[in-house]
Amino acid sequence: MDLPESRARALDAEDVEHSRRGAFLIPPAEGGPYPESAYLAGNSLGLQARKIRERLDEVLREWHSWAVEGHTEAQRPWVSYHALLREPAATLVGALPSEVVSMNSLTVNLHLMMISFYRPTPERHAIVVEDTTFPSDSYAVRSQAAFHGFDPDTAVVRLEPRTGENGLRSEDVVAFLEREGHRVALVLLGAVNYYSGEHLDMASITKAGRAAGAVVGWDLAHAAGNVPLRLHDWGVDWAAWCTYKYLNSGPGSIAGAFVHERHLADRSLPKLAGWWSTDPETRFLMRPTVDPVDTADSWQLSNPPIFAMAPVLASLEMFAEVGMDNLRERSLRLTGYLESVLGELIGDRPISIITPRDPGRRGTQLSVRLQEASVREVCTRMRLEHGVVADARDPDVIRLAPAPLYVSYHDCWRAAHALVEVVDNSGR
Ligand SMILES: Cc1ncc(COP(=O)(O)O)c(C=O)c1O
Repeated sequence: MDLPESRARALDAEDVEHSRRGAFLIPPAEGGPYPESAYLAGNSLGLQARKIRERLDEVLREWHSWAVEGHTEAQRPWVSYHALLREPAATLVGALPSEVVSMNSLTVNLHLMMISFYRPTPERHAIVVEDTTFPSDSYAVRSQAAFHGFDPDTAVVRLEPRTGENGLRSEDVVAFLEREGHRVALVLLGAVNYYSGEHLDMASITKAGRAAGAVVGWDLAHAAGNVPLRLHDWGVDWAAWCTYKYLNSGPGSIAGAFVHERHLADRSLPKLAGWWSTDPETRFLMRPTVDPVDTADSWQLSNPPIFAMAPVLASLEMFAEVGMDNLRERSLRLTGYLESVLGELIGDRPISIITPRDPGRRGTQLSVRLQEASVREVCTRMRLEHGVVADARDPDVIRLAPAPLYVSYHDCWRAAHALVEVVDNSGR
């Protein structure tokens, strides 16, 4: 195979339909011959769409002109701003509108969901996570186990890949649940693993977990806006996600949560409450008790932070316009191309791709393991010497994410070349 720079340029000229690169602000390159960065860190923090500034300006202007009346008089009234996000968020994750809510941040939502759905007993109190679960999730589940009086070291079961493999096979998760599910209270896995980029088979794991009598929750931090999701149809009990990665909504932006329809009217679920949990029709009657609503909104606590929500709304509109299935197709093409260029360049260098080679088992990310060089040093040099932004994850991985809304084939070509060149020169 021969994959010269001209081929990358040609692919960019051909594959334009679902790229929205022009709608984004691409950071200037810090080094190398090209003016713009090749930005492959959108799985960590997505880029800023141009329309975000307009939306924030709109809120600033309305705050100025309407002040407190903006709650009801703003073009998008603040009192119900969260409701504007409902439809597009539901479409994105494959849910009914009543099943989703935009609120808080991801770890907070994981805890709110676990308050309702981790209901351990002495016989059934295990929480199943993947061994490479994101540290925050690990801390969260351990603290939940301890909160209920269980020893986190035994209550939290960390599933490991087979010896010599990098990813957790979905069929092994299913087999574990068939074997040990009787003691599992909660399954909480990353739908796309942050480290390896592996996309688990959510439908079959959810089915196996529920058949074993466990509750099945998913962390969609690396899946929302990356892979098509059908949370309702798969029967997922609950899920939570952030919006600053593939959803490009800005650092620390408002997260999302999903609760399956079958739980929405279950008033026996333990929940924390605040004034946004109650029925909006009676909210301002200032009564001392909650009027419950049978939607995911009942997990809300506070009034919506408009500055944090405006970018999410703008971003979700963009996803709705392009369509997740179209984006997935483009991401498969870009990731496959990146894999080919890397494959051509790596040769017998001490570099390996640990993300599954089957496109159906991964999102738009390749994790590259460096056997000898320091990943942090390589990443920094890629940025400063080549204008390529990737990210390093200890101990030994560099992640490259060709987020399909704005990453080009040429960016992938640059990233692969920069990585290999820096590794060749590392230590010099
Ligand atoms: C898989 C996963 N879970 C949880 C988190 C924590 O997110 P937050 O700080 O928004 O709670 C992250 C952050 O990157 C993540 O990647």
